[in-house]
Amino acid sequence: MDLLRTKSIEQSIADTDEPEFRLKKSLSALDLTVFGVGVVIGAGIFTVAGRAAHTLAGPSVVLSFVLAAICCALAAMCYAEFASTVPVSGSAYTFSYASLGEFFAWVIGWDLILEMFLGASVVAQGWSAYLGVLAERLGLTIPAAIGYGASPFTATKGIDLMAMLLVLVLGVLVLLGIKESMRVNLALVSLKLFIVIFVIVAGIGFVNTANYTPFIPPAAPTEASTGWKASLIQTLFSATPTAFGAGGIVTAAALVFFAYIGFDVVATTAEEARNPKRDIPIGIIASLTICTILYCAVALVVTGMVPYDELTSSASLANAFAYHNQPWMATLIAAGAVAGLTTVVLTLLVGATRLMFAMSRDHLLPAGWARVDP
Ligand code: ALA
Repeated sequence: MDLLRTKSIEQSIADTDEPEFRLKKSLSALDLTVFGVGVVIGAGIFTVAGRAAHTLAGPSVVLSFVLAAICCALAAMCYAEFASTVPVSGSAYTFSYASLGEFFAWVIGWDLILEMFLGASVVAQGWSAYLGVLAERLGLTIPAAIGYGASPFTATKGIDLMAMLLVLVLGVLVLLGIKESMRVNLALVSLKLFIVIFVIVAGIGFVNTANYTPFIPPAAPTEASTGWKASLIQTLFSATPTAFGAGGIVTAAALVFFAYIGFDVVATTAEEARNPKRDIPIGIIASLTICTILYCAVALVVTGMVPYDELTSSASLANAFAYHNQPWMATLIAAGAVAGLTTVVLTLLVGATRLMFAMSRDHLLPAGWARVDP
């Protein structure tokens, strides 16, 4: 068997026309942009940004967001180019099948399934954390044994049932069909955008410019920059582990890169785009641009609202408002985070199903999985 045989672009496109394996071409450039923003904005800005500022970069975390965005944009352009040339479900899996061959496609396919399911479960756990915060603000309590942090392996014995339920409910939604999921998605993405813009607009009033000094805190060894948490560069070159300083900006960039993960999922829906050659590049680049602007603005506002060493590592956006004694704003943001993280999990699950669809159509997974219900 030839492990490196490639699948021609013509064959890939011809496969999408088999009536049995055909997906509806119903998505516009706007749908794809909404889809992209829906999956990209998530735990990255709601929790990781605060953590990166607190532990690694201080106010200069905004530079980390810019650095990560530049790297992402380079990859995004490759995705946009590929997706418009091979407008077939499956994203990097399909592209590697066309360029590198079957074996690499199989490996990349499983990589992507891992990325999406792992991403979905991590974000579901973050969702469960925010749900706990929201419930608490509303005077309710989620029992510790079924809430965030519960695990057979930690002090809080139990299972995170909330996160599991979320994945289950959204899984059923995806099963019902993409148009339905898109509609729910649109509502949730709008709410999430509103919350992010709310943080920026309402937060500006609480900014104290003194918090921007020092903008790049001096490099210092910290707990967050040793052992497994040390950056790859520090480990490779046996440099003394430090956080902050110029190195901290780069290390934080690697961390906040998580906030951009998901733009590639737009490419997994290429086959459902009405005009993939035009709509996919627009969808990918527009969602990345929107997210970069929002991220930088949120990072600037939040590090201006609270001194970086007092920012909390989880629920940092809500807590920044609690810091300024604005309980209703903090509650609103916690609610928005719950809605926002829901769309991320949903979109990652949609991406995973489309990927498995493409792999099974190529018989790299059971072929029956690719049969589409008329
Ligand atoms: N980019 C996604 C997030 O921030 C994975 O949650």
